[in-house]
Amino acid sequence: MLVVIHPNPEAASKQAAKIVADQVRRKTNSVLGLSTGNTPLATYAELIRMHREEGLDFSAVTTFNLDEYFGVPRDHPQSFYRHIHENFLDHINAKPENTHIPDGFSSDFAKTCMEYETAIKRAGGIDLQLLGIGRTGHIGFNEPTSSLASRTRLKTLSDETIADNSKISGEIPTISITMGIGTILEARRILLLATGGKKADAVAKALEGPITSSVSASALQMHGDVTVMLDEDAAANLTHRDYYRRVIDQTAKHSPERLGLK
Ligand code: GLP
Repeated sequence: MLVVIHPNPEAASKQAAKIVADQVRRKTNSVLGLSTGNTPLATYAELIRMHREEGLDFSAVTTFNLDEYFGVPRDHPQSFYRHIHENFLDHINAKPENTHIPDGFSSDFAKTCMEYETAIKRAGGIDLQLLGIGRTGHIGFNEPTSSLASRTRLKTLSDETIADNSKISGEIPTISITMGIGTILEARRILLLATGGKKADAVAKALEGPITSSVSASALQMHGDVTVMLDEDAAANLTHRDYYRRVIDQTAKHSPERLGLK
């Protein structure tokens, strides 16, 4: 796991954007896994800037969003469909037929979930999965006690997640449709972004605690290519901060491409 600690959220977001951009430049038909929430917004803004000013081309890119609220139509102000369109997809040149978001308003959820998994496989699997982390240590909407082998399915939200997300967008549904932890772990590369002191506890448990379904992000310890972008506040509870800094210095020298630096 490459853990990069930045002085502030802006620097973390910009480097995350560089890694995504680098992926898209190296493989123009990359399959990207997208995350919603507040954390990746600055990364999306930077990618939009790169698209407009530097010609970063998403025309052959395919995207899959992690999750959606259950029972929420696409055009609802709280839908993740709207969130990702307004903050990213509407401002780049990805083809609409290549962008995928779980259908939170489907009448047959079992089928919808299965088809989502099939669509990811058909696209060749996810090359780079962007992730945020919830205060409960969840990735996607895989709340504590989610099976580490779970696939795309319906998931009941925890009280903490309902409280956190309601602060951002008002009353929210209590059930979601989310890629499973097993689905996420199949991505070839994972980029986790976390900023702010509220995430410090979840980040420390996920990166340095035991692998447990009580903290679904701890499953990332089993993945061979995870990069974690943090600001100082989110990194505050990590025990091995100095070690991570040394690793990053070495990586920047010897494999700068892993950090989007080349
Ligand atoms: C939601 C999403 C997660 C996201 C998390 C954190 O629960 N399902 O994918 O990572 O919120 O959101 P924020 O970045 O707003 O803190």
